[in-house]
Amino acid sequence: MTQQTDQFKKVISHAKEYGFVFPSSEIYDGLSAVYDYAQNGAALKNNIREYWWKSMVQLHENIVGIDAAIFMHPTTWKASGHVDAFNDPLIDNKVSKKRYRADVLVEEYVAKIEGKIEKEIEKASKRFGADFDEAQFRATNPRVLANQEKAASILKRLGQSLEKEDLADVRALIEELEISCPETGSRDWTDVKQFNLMFGTKLGASADTAMDLYLRPETAQGIFVNFLNVQKTGRMKLPFGIAQTGKAFRNEIVARQFIFRMREFEQMEMQFFIPPGTQKEWYERWKEDRLKWHLALGMGKENYRFHDHEKLAHYADAASDIEFRFPFGFKELEGIHSRTDFDLSSHEKYTGKKLQYFDPERNENYTPYVVETSIGLDRMFLAVFSNSLVEEELEGGTSRTVLKFPFALAPNKAAVLPLVKKDGLPELARTIVEELKWDLQTVYDEKDAVGRRYRRQDALGTPFCITVDHQSLEDQTVTLRERDSMEQIRIAIADLKTTIQDQVSITTLLKKL
Ligand code: GAP
Repeated sequence: MTQQTDQFKKVISHAKEYGFVFPSSEIYDGLSAVYDYAQNGAALKNNIREYWWKSMVQLHENIVGIDAAIFMHPTTWKASGHVDAFNDPLIDNKVSKKRYRADVLVEEYVAKIEGKIEKEIEKASKRFGADFDEAQFRATNPRVLANQEKAASILKRLGQSLEKEDLADVRALIEELEISCPETGSRDWTDVKQFNLMFGTKLGASADTAMDLYLRPETAQGIFVNFLNVQKTGRMKLPFGIAQTGKAFRNEIVARQFIFRMREFEQMEMQFFIPPGTQKEWYERWKEDRLKWHLALGMGKENYRFHDHEKLAHYADAASDIEFRFPFGFKELEGIHSRTDFDLSSHEKYTGKKLQYFDPERNENYTPYVVETSIGLDRMFLAVFSNSLVEEELEGGTSRTVLKFPFALAPNKAAVLPLVKKDGLPELARTIVEELKWDLQTVYDEKDAVGRRYRRQDALGTPFCITVDHQSLEDQTVTLRERDSMEQIRIAIADLKTTIQDQVSITTLLKKL
């Protein structure tokens, strides 16, 4: 087993064992690529959502939030292009009968080449030590250069073939690269076909009158159809944004990698409406702002990179992904898209209604352009969770498993632990919980020896443990243990709330932006 798959397996089993993520309807053997968030997972997810929402809506005077319905008029999806163009190229293996996304098979092949480059760099870095110049090595090492060129040319050809809808060439590429079925090693492939990802359903009680609907594949359209309503009722002036979080549904062909690619998932999207001609500037600004939002979490600058798209979605004139280093390599975490006036213009065409804005400075009416930021909440959850899970060797040959969540995102902020279950310590511990619970998500734990309770809270990612001992009864002080350093200080009970809150609140995190 490679180190990567080993780490990923640990992530999945820890998420289940500690009450973060369960397979959906597990007692019926689960449902493929659908997951339930458990007691701790729901809390982590809420905190990520709150961080996103407040950074958008609370910190920007010109961004407002809405909550549109999942069901939308079916013509919405004709206008948005999803009925005709929201397809993935699929390919079946004739021997294993397994279905794959043709583009993903090629991208995984390229990821292996990139893995070889990284290994080469790692080896050289060890060999040269402090003198190692990675940029120079990348630019001059013949093996690295050859692999870089190979990867780039494969991706270019894939992008061009998909752009031209030349599915025969995508199949030819798979054959030329001798890509085989990951399950059986067979290279007996069918032709590549397009597959629409939207889920259909029906609205209405009788079969004759029922209306065919789709479950929304993105939350963005709920924003576009409400553009004028929000602009008028909110008296919004361009540039302004509309933010929304909510469920989206896609019948993904390749639904693996845990919560990375799900069939039911949650998006956090913001559409920023701007005057035509200013899209380049706003696109760059939002790319920068969104990266800042990620970096404020302190999960390592080296774990993020931009990937500018060669192949653009049907609505975009520029697009970039913020990729994150997941346990299975760098993959898309968030998309920033310059969507032009595609969506609003298309809704105008299909509804016959004007979705325009009168710009007093330009003294003209126009259909605004849009720059969108779109991030999957579940994917962000996986990024935070997998980055935080570490095994630490301790002095004395022991080890501990810790979820080093950014403090503001941790499900519980403090655990209150009476040293023993007698002598009035549980009672005092309970009064501390009562005091803290109004401002901080606090838990009480009295079971097992205190060392084991520390380990349990480490494995849940709780930033602070408060231990109540006999001295506490005498002088109203407790021990405050910090999760990452494991340092303990003696602190007055009266100071607990502000000391902890200063370090764990979403406000503290937002102030880093
Ligand atoms: N409105 C634009 C849009 O939906 P997208 O790139 O298709 O763009 C945006 O999706 C984000 O939604 C992705 O960057 C990813 O984080 C998340 N996402 C997309 N499909 C997903 C899936 N099947 N499971 C989990 N997250 C997904």
